[in-house]
Amino acid sequence: MEILIAGGHGQIALRLERLLKQAGHRPRGLIRNPAHAGDLEAAGAEPVMCDLEHDDPRPHVGTADAIVYAAGAGPGSGAERKRTMDYGGAVKLIDAARELDVARWLMVSSMGAGDPDSGAEAMRPYLQAKHGADEALAASGLDWTIVRPGRLTNEPGTGFVEAAAQLGRRGEVPRDDVALVLLEALDAPNTVGVTFELLAGETPAREAVRSL
Ligand SMILES: NC(=O)c1ccc[n+]([C@@H]2O[C@H](COP(=O)([O-])OP(=O)(O)OC[C@H]3O[C@@H](n4cnc5c(N)ncnc54)[C@H](OP(=O)(O)O)[C@@H]3O)[C@@H](O)[C@H]2O)c1
Repeated sequence: MEILIAGGHGQIALRLERLLKQAGHRPRGLIRNPAHAGDLEAAGAEPVMCDLEHDDPRPHVGTADAIVYAAGAGPGSGAERKRTMDYGGAVKLIDAARELDVARWLMVSSMGAGDPDSGAEAMRPYLQAKHGADEALAASGLDWTIVRPGRLTNEPGTGFVEAAAQLGRRGEVPRDDVALVLLEALDAPNTVGVTFELLAGETPAREAVRSL
């Protein structure tokens, strides 16, 4: 499959690109900084220049079979960029997918995005942006899946996770394992129309995804 990854130089994205390449897929990553192109190539992905806040993504979607939104304004950004990137960039790409008939769409959301008002004050603009993007995707008519990981770490992946609509606890999950779950979810039809939380756990990633 040809997979388009938004935020192609992100920490989860680069991990996912490596996994996709190893699995025989064709990853393409949207980036806004040409200096990042070499890192994508090293990961086995084709770099595609597109700033999701300022450009029209439609000419860059190519022949994608699926889109993964792993982009975000990042921790150093203010409320305005949460709105233009975490929300606005996602909506732009959802609209592009609908217009260009790319049915499969995976969102890297966040734990807490389901109920932004219950989050800490400082987190609210971020969670509201994620919430809005998730709502837009759920209403899109696409074959969507929304993944809501807990706090991301750069610990080595274990391949074992816990995933469910509501886990009833907070916690962490390595980016390696989020990338693995995204790979598994891409061609798991049972995850279409499903929103799930994700933490480190004791179930092999494939089994956790297939049991959703
Ligand atoms: N941190 C956590 O604990 C946590 C928990 C749950 C969910 N999440 C979410 O998980 C997702 C992935 O996390 P991560 O750590 O892999 O993210 P990351 O490393 O911060 O990657 C985000 C990517 O988005 C790109 N981006 C920003 N603005 C852009 C624009 N205008 N056009 C195109 N690309 C743009 C960045 O590119 P540049 O380098 O050019 O800025 C970066 O490569 C994020 O959405 C994050 O909010 C995070």
